Amino acid sequence: MENPNISGWDAMAQSYQDQSDISTDDIHISPFGPGALELGLIKPRTGERYLELGCGAAQNSIALEKQGATTYAVDGSEIQLQHAKSFLLASDSNTHLIKGDLERLNWLKEDAFDGVVSCFAVEFVRDLESFISAVHATLKKNGLLLLATVHPLGAFEWHEGDEYLRVEDYLNPPVELWNERSGPYEHGVTIFRTIETLFSVLVSHGFSIEKILEPAPIEIPLKSPYKGRYWEPYMDRLQKIPFSIVFLARK
Ligand SMILES: C[S@@+](CC[C@H](N)C(=O)[O-])C[C@H]1O[C@@H](n2cnc3c(N)ncnc32)[C@H](O)[C@@H]1O
Repeated sequence: MENPNISGWDAMAQSYQDQSDISTDDIHISPFGPGALELGLIKPRTGERYLELGCGAAQNSIALEKQGATTYAVDGSEIQLQHAKSFLLASDSNTHLIKGDLERLNWLKEDAFDGVVSCFAVEFVRDLESFISAVHATLKKNGLLLLATVHPLGAFEWHEGDEYLRVEDYLNPPVELWNERSGPYEHGVTIFRTIETLFSVLVSHGFSIEKILEPAPIEIPLKSPYKGRYWEPYMDRLQKIPFSIVFLARK
């Protein structure tokens, strides 16, 4: 049976791409926030091999390729990969697209990549330990992982009027069941994890954490590589509570 998070993304892909405005010139790590290349988090060298996991329309891989990297981009959703093909064509990109389930990465070769980038995908992966273990194995020695995922505070509800967030049980962030009760969304889940959990899993699999970021919107949000209609209503909230947490980790 296909992973329900993947069939859910097949159903959501068109509206995600329609409502997002994602640049192919930088790596997007937070809505209205700065890009990872601009921040100097990643400095790919010509010929280095980068893997993107949960690539969606592969905008990050295209940005890495523009820096000289050879890029491989994995996603489980056929529809997201169709969007990726359009972006690749428009950018004259040679990124290699691969259809694969992030819950089953045992086909990845060991010591194969200089860098792995994964933005807003690991929250759909139930077994974080296996995912991080596979990423660690496929990185070369000193290889870099850039992991952006949902911030645990994003799991909680805002007070009516958007004045503050009501955090009832931070230590047990709720798993968000996708709203629709029928069709492909039925069992789709977004898994929020505490910062301690994310940090501990990375370290226990042998990563050294170089940086943790909780990015806020930049001064001119329209210059961010991650923007679009979907995010506009949330601007006030994003100024107060980060949407994403970003780990820069080295093997
Ligand atoms: C929020 S989108 C992010 C896409 C892209 N990284 C971006 O930031 O635009 C989440 C992506 O993860 C993919 N995904 C979710 N669960 C997956 C799984 N188990 N295996 C492969 N891809 C998965 C979805 O198909 C979707 O493209």
